[in-house]
Amino acid sequence: MNKAKEPSSGNQRLRLLLVSDNAEDFTYLQDLLGRAADRKVEARHAASPTQAIRELENNSCDLLLCNYCSGDPMALQLSSAIRKRGGYPPLVFISDHVSESALVGILHGGRGTAFPVPGIGESPALHALDCAIQAHCKERQRKKSEVMLSKLWSAVEQATELIVIMDGSGLVEYINPAFTRATGYTTVELKGHAFSLLEVETEHPETYRQMWETIFSGNIFRGSISSRKKNGDALLVERTIAPLQDAQGKTTHFVCCDHDVTEKRRLEAQLLQAQKMDAIGRLAGGVAHDFNNLLMVISAYAELMQDSITHEHPLRRNVDQIMTASRRAADLTRQLLAFSRRQMQSLQVLDLNVLLRDAVRILPRLIGEDIQLQFLPGLEMAKVKCDPVQIEQIVMNLAANARDAMPHGGKFTIETSNVYLDETYLQRHSIVPAGDYVLMAVTDTGQGILPEHMHHIFEPFYTTKEEGKGTGLGLATVYGIVKQNGGFVWVYSEPGMGTTFKIYWPSAQQKLSKLPPGHTAEENSRGSETVLLVEDEEAVRQSASEFLTTCGYTVLQAINGDDALVVTRDYRSTIDLMITDVVMPHMGGAKLAGQLANARPDMKVLFVSGYAESTVQRYGSIDVTSNFLQKPFSLKVLSRKVREVLEAPVTLAMAASAK
Ligand SMILES: Nc1ncnc2c1ncn2[C@@H]1O[C@H](COP(=O)(O)OP(=O)(O)OP(=O)(O)O)[C@@H](O)[C@H]1O
Ligand SMILES: [Mg+2]
Repeated sequence: MNKAKEPSSGNQRLRLLLVSDNAEDFTYLQDLLGRAADRKVEARHAASPTQAIRELENNSCDLLLCNYCSGDPMALQLSSAIRKRGGYPPLVFISDHVSESALVGILHGGRGTAFPVPGIGESPALHALDCAIQAHCKERQRKKSEVMLSKLWSAVEQATELIVIMDGSGLVEYINPAFTRATGYTTVELKGHAFSLLEVETEHPETYRQMWETIFSGNIFRGSISSRKKNGDALLVERTIAPLQDAQGKTTHFVCCDHDVTEKRRLEAQLLQAQKMDAIGRLAGGVAHDFNNLLMVISAYAELMQDSITHEHPLRRNVDQIMTASRRAADLTRQLLAFSRRQMQSLQVLDLNVLLRDAVRILPRLIGEDIQLQFLPGLEMAKVKCDPVQIEQIVMNLAANARDAMPHGGKFTIETSNVYLDETYLQRHSIVPAGDYVLMAVTDTGQGILPEHMHHIFEPFYTTKEEGKGTGLGLATVYGIVKQNGGFVWVYSEPGMGTTFKIYWPSAQQKLSKLPPGHTAEENSRGSETVLLVEDEEAVRQSASEFLTTCGYTVLQAINGDDALVVTRDYRSTIDLMITDVVMPHMGGAKLAGQLANARPDMKVLFVSGYAESTVQRYGSIDVTSNFLQKPFSLKVLSRKVREVLEAPVTLAMAASAK
């Protein structure tokens, strides 16, 4: 590239380089220039093209003069060297006789930078030189402007921002391709139309008013605003509009630059919703856990009282009422625990179709005869890892909601299919990791959900149903279970158009496992064995201890893990069973069991907790899920479970070595 500076105006000092193998020519030129008083000229001399090029590299030069004789190889050589330098500085051949063919040869070699000038005479020659320089400078300026214009054009055309140029009254003159891609409008469709046509009703009118007011008063507008796409959808953009002013400061145009943030805002809202649900979940779970312990005490004493009074006793009805109410309260806390993902799970790898077929069989009783039930199982379904009881819970809750949404009948459909969620899907539901899923879609043709309820329906206690009809825990339970299993739930609904819940279970790439055989209840709930009860909640410990004693057991109590170690060390006889809470301060139930495995290898163990498997397993090295009782439980269930564990062959030593 040529580093030499170009003349910007004709009044500057003109720097000439004369290329000629004849030194006399140079003397003559200097003499001639010396007489031209109207220009300041600085002349140098190069004896050969090589010397000329070296000179050009070291010094600025506005014009090359080359003495030319017909057939002169120096002319051609110089002309091609200048071409390589991008055609600068202009090259002027000086000759008495210029043959046309020779000139054409040089012009081709020098890309048109040659200006034949009559042999150096007096001032007409200087004038000719001047014209040649001016013409060349103009041409170069024009070319530079063209290059710059084309760069600016490409920048605007290829920009990822949505750019609109409006005239001074707000009529569209130009939109760039990014704008077309985002909105669907082409230049032809918008050119000459008011930009305000793209305003949407959902945006506050004050925002637009402020925008126009700002730019019409010559200021820059910056702000988040909605714009309308061709298909009617709203586009959320971060917008900047700047007035373009002419030399007199008059606004002639506006340039609007939009950054599309629709997707970003949607993801932020989604994340916020997920965080909110998490926070509510933690709160609900915490409350439910503490409430569970209180409930246990209430129901335990009510049960003890029930057992100690006859059916005819005047207080019998009151006690029965307490029992019924505490059972209902227990159901509520179970749902809360499900929502907060702390529900105990018994996970198996299963065929969802088999489970759903069973669940669907009992649905008609729930949804009634006016609702047509349809089950469309997908073919060759991948297996999922889940708790069958929880799947049933989900189906029941969704079916109950569908029933309520279709008081005059309708259609309720459950479908399953294998899906692979890829990048396209993720762009819309970005919290979902890509991969294989089993989709369970549950659709009703009911009244649908209003947009204002949509964001809240999964929150616990959010209900639109009249007092006494709904607690608002159904969908919270569904949400909690789905999340607990690493799945996702999406709802699609329009008022009056029905509702679809789509639940995505991560596919478990494993073989089908058999469902466990149905639970056979152990009727004999009494016994005479020795039981160690480890529970940090005093009221729970007392009530359970009293109950187990009435059932015939010898009960030892420990208030925590450390205390349990002391009790087992000091007690000289056999302890047949340890019932221990899993989550306790200092030492959890699993750790305690692990420590006792050597000292009491034949002892059986029953773990109790209000927390879920995923939570309790963090507390120790023994698998607590094999003998587990979820709080709250009734004393009858406890007595049955105690017998079941006592009669099972699995000892503490076996449990400890299994892990
Ligand atoms: N299929 C549906 N069609 C229309 N609205 C629904 C549907 N499912 C849920 N909803 C709306 O979501 C709300 C919350 O549902 P959710 O199941 O959590 O609570 P609920 O049914 O009101 O009470 P609960 O299930 O505890 O008895 C409902 O009150 C209802 O407004
Ligand atoms: Mg419900």
